[in-house]
Amino acid sequence: MGKVIAIANQKGGVGKTTTAINLAASLAATEYSTLLLDIDPQANCTSGIGLEEDEADASIYEVLIGEVPAAEAVITTEMPFLDVIPSHINLVGAEIEMIDEMQREEILSSALPQIRRKYDFVVIDCPPSLGLLTLNSLTAANSVLIPVQAEYFALEGLGQLLNTIKIVRQHLNPDLEIEGVLLTMFDTRLNLSNQVAQEVRRYFGDKVFETIVQRNVRLSEAPSFGKPAILYEASSKGAKNYMALAREILENNEEYIESHHTNGEEGTEEALDEADPAAGEEQSSNPKQPSEKEPSSEEEQDEEAPAEDEGVTEAIGEASDPEGESPPADDFSL
Ligand SMILES: Nc1ncnc2c1ncn2[C@@H]1O[C@H](COP(=O)(O)OP(=O)(O)OP(=O)(O)O)[C@@H](O)[C@H]1O
Ligand SMILES: [Mg+2]
Repeated sequence: MGKVIAIANQKGGVGKTTTAINLAASLAATEYSTLLLDIDPQANCTSGIGLEEDEADASIYEVLIGEVPAAEAVITTEMPFLDVIPSHINLVGAEIEMIDEMQREEILSSALPQIRRKYDFVVIDCPPSLGLLTLNSLTAANSVLIPVQAEYFALEGLGQLLNTIKIVRQHLNPDLEIEGVLLTMFDTRLNLSNQVAQEVRRYFGDKVFETIVQRNVRLSEAPSFGKPAILYEASSKGAKNYMALAREILENNEEYIESHHTNGEEGTEEALDEADPAAGEEQSSNPKQPSEKEPSSEEEQDEEAPAEDEGVTEAIGEASDPEGESPPADDFSL
């Protein structure tokens, strides 16, 4: 039963896709069978791994709307241990189509067990938002990896992300862990990068990966050749950084891997059910349209839980209200 790691940060351009592709490829290079799942309508992961638009018969879109089972959307890559479920621009519509579904935050987690058992790791590339697609990913995931760009305003918006994680834990996926915070695009020549690294470590402590991904032009070139850096230029700093990240994640997950490295022999659907008790029932039994949502005071949002008759998606939508956005502060509790 593979470990599902969602790569999430609603901030754009922080290195989510680069991390998803290169982490997945590095795990696969270490012979851990890995599924790279692209759930971003931008489909950067899909093209970055070498798939042409419309090359695939099915994408995550068809999986989410229930048209095909996940297994049928899986595509093999030139790496023997790496498979992909591609995305497609029509995924933009999925969020709207999903909004009327019962338990709409749990569609992915219901679709995944069928294929999860085939893999040691499932790496999900999330879009730059805290919408339904990211919520589905966080609900289906065992852990979330948060890339943070070593730049000005690195911590901006992270309070919102952590609040979302907290809400998901309370209502949808109590076992969701933080896999780690990853510093990306680190420029060794810049004092600023070091300052940001210090700041991030001050807030997140040992949740920050020891591995730091440096700014490396090979990492930005590789996707246009449809390759992970390890295949494009294995000796590049970028490829090495992501191999180091994979090793660090493997070390951190030794226990999990030992107990789950079964390649699907065990009955795993029960295991997933256990990890995901009917937590969604309460809030999903009466899903409301976003337009119907009642304004709730900031105080209530801070109280974490959405009101009883309110969907989790709405609660997060409200918590994401820019006015409610708190600067990165002491409540970065993980
Ligand atoms: N370590 C790095 N060194 C150099 N360039 C990088 C590095 N990481 C990412 N990039 C480049 O930065 C840009 C943004 O990275 P990426 O697409 O991975 O971010 P993202 O968080 O997935 O963006 P979005 O939020 O739009 O999905 C891309 O052009 C990518 O090639
Ligand atoms: Mg991306």
